[in-house]
Amino acid sequence: MTTNKGLKLFDLKSRVCNNHFVKRVMQILFILVLSSIKSKNFAFGEEKCTNEQQCSTIDEKKTLDSSVSSTIRLITEEELSTKNGENNNPIWLSVLGEVYDVTAGSHYYGTNASYSFFAAKDASPCFASGKFNEEGLKEDLMALKPKQVKEIEHWREFYEDHENYILIGYLVGKFYDENGKATKLLKRCRKKLKYLIEKENKEKQVQAKEK
Ligand code: HEM
Repeated sequence: MTTNKGLKLFDLKSRVCNNHFVKRVMQILFILVLSSIKSKNFAFGEEKCTNEQQCSTIDEKKTLDSSVSSTIRLITEEELSTKNGENNNPIWLSVLGEVYDVTAGSHYYGTNASYSFFAAKDASPCFASGKFNEEGLKEDLMALKPKQVKEIEHWREFYEDHENYILIGYLVGKFYDENGKATKLLKRCRKKLKYLIEKENKEKQVQAKEK
């Protein structure tokens, strides 16, 4: 009897242990699956691409540079609004929702300098219109023509490629939501840009054939 009881107890124990073991394995598997899904996503919600040619959007290209994507963060308009170079603050500006530290260019963006209007805000439409004032700021971004988006993109690339300007993060607002995902407006801008680039490429091909 004692041996039977002892065996049953042993059986029960090992079943419990087995169940516990299975649970643990399932937990580890779950964590592994989750982390692999996570690693496929861009830090700010975009799909990751593995080579430059595969990258169809502006942000995806950045994911190739892990040092950039690991340091960038989301920035609020309130935080940005203080970064005008005054009171020992750096100078930040935003273009298409990308925030750059342009303190190195304080002779352009500092108080009373020619381009100080760009400091501490996202003045994207002004990069296309050249109206560095409140009127320029109010321009309807949804109504931007592809050529105007290209002008703005030119400046975004300028800041991105500039050796002394640093990408700080993404501005929550018009172009990025609070999860760092591109808004409808940014997606529309990118579509216009893509359309224009394709159109220009086709025109170039036609011109090349005619020669
Ligand atoms: C849409 C119109 C324009 C935009 C968005 C624009 C924007 C800018 C920006 C952002 C800079 C500073 C670049 C940096 O950080 O290194 C700059 C510099 C400069 N821009 Fe403009 N600009 C415009 C039109 C003009 C025009 C019409 C002129 C000439 C009449 C001009 C002349 C200059 C000059 C000379 C510099 C260099 C300033 C210096 O070396 O001190 N820009 N521009």
